[in-house]
Amino acid sequence: MSNASGVLVFALPGNEALAAALARELHAATGELAVRRFPDGETYLRFVTPVKGCKVVLACSLHNPDAQAMPLLFAAATAKELGAAAVGMVTPYLGYMRQDKRFNDGEAVTSALFARLLSPHIDWLVTVDPHLHRWHSLDDIYSVPSTVVPAAPLLAAWIKTNIPSPVLIGPDAESEQWVSAVAREAGAPHVVLEKIRRGDRDVSVSIPDPQVLRGRTPVLVDDIISTGRTMIAAAKHALAQGLPAPVCIGVHAVFAGDAHEALLAAGAARVVTTNTIPQKTAAIDINAVVAAAVAMQLAG
Ligand code: R5P
Repeated sequence: MSNASGVLVFALPGNEALAAALARELHAATGELAVRRFPDGETYLRFVTPVKGCKVVLACSLHNPDAQAMPLLFAAATAKELGAAAVGMVTPYLGYMRQDKRFNDGEAVTSALFARLLSPHIDWLVTVDPHLHRWHSLDDIYSVPSTVVPAAPLLAAWIKTNIPSPVLIGPDAESEQWVSAVAREAGAPHVVLEKIRRGDRDVSVSIPDPQVLRGRTPVLVDDIISTGRTMIAAAKHALAQGLPAPVCIGVHAVFAGDAHEALLAAGAARVVTTNTIPQKTAAIDINAVVAAAVAMQLAG
C-alpha cells in the first residue's frame, strides 16, 4: 500500500491483528519492526521500515506489562531518535493502572511510575476504559494528550442483541461507572454488589436487593477480568440466590492463570469480552472505534 498519509503502524509482538486493523481503518501502511530476545533475555529491536518524517503508531496492548513495556519503550524512543515526526501509542489495555495509591507504607504507586516511564517517549496515547479509580483522568499521571475510548456503547449493543431481558450486575463499587453506563445504553436495570477482597484470590460479594434480579438474565459486567475471582464470587452468589447462570462480560480479558476456565467451572453461562486483549472470548470488536480515536490524534 502507498503511504501517502505518512502514517506507519507498527505491531509490537502479539499485536499484529490490532496493527493490521488500525492500518486498514486509517488507510495507512504497516511498517516492519523486528523484535527478538537475546539469549540472556535482553530485547533486540530494529525498525526495518524507515520512520524518518513519518507519524509512527505503535500498537501494543499491555496485559503482560513487564514483558511488553521494554520493547514498547525501546520502540518509541528509537522511532524518535530516527526522526519520526510523531510517535503515538495505542494500548487498548493499559496495564499498571490499579496500584493508584500507597495502600501500605513503602509500596510503589506503580500507575504513576509507569506513566512517568512512558510519557517522555510518546506524543499521545489512545486506550480503552483504563482503570481510573482514584485517578480521575489519565492527565493526572500521563504528561501527553490521551484519548479514552469507552467500551460501554459496544457492550450495550452486544447485550441488546444477544440477551433477552437482562439485568446488569456490577461486582463491586468500582464497577459502578462501567455498569451504569452500559445499563443506561442497553435500557436495562442494574445493581452493584458489595465486595470484600481479602487477598489476590480471596474475594466475597453480596447482593443488596436480590428481588431486582428475579425473572431476568443476570449479566455480570466489569472492566477487568484478571484472576477472575471477583466475577467468580459474583457468579456463585447469583447462583446461590437461585438465579439463572450469569453471562459474564469484561472489557479487558487479562485472564491470569486459569481465570477463564475457573469462571466457566463456577457456573458462568458464557464469558464475553472485547478484543482489547486477544483472547478467544473476544466477541466484541473495538478496533474500529479505537482507530477513529487514533485518526483524531493523528489529525491534531
Ligand atoms: C477492580 O477494581 C477491577 O475493577 C476488577 O474488579 C478487578 O481488577 C478484577 O480482578 P480479579 O479478576 O483478579 O478479581
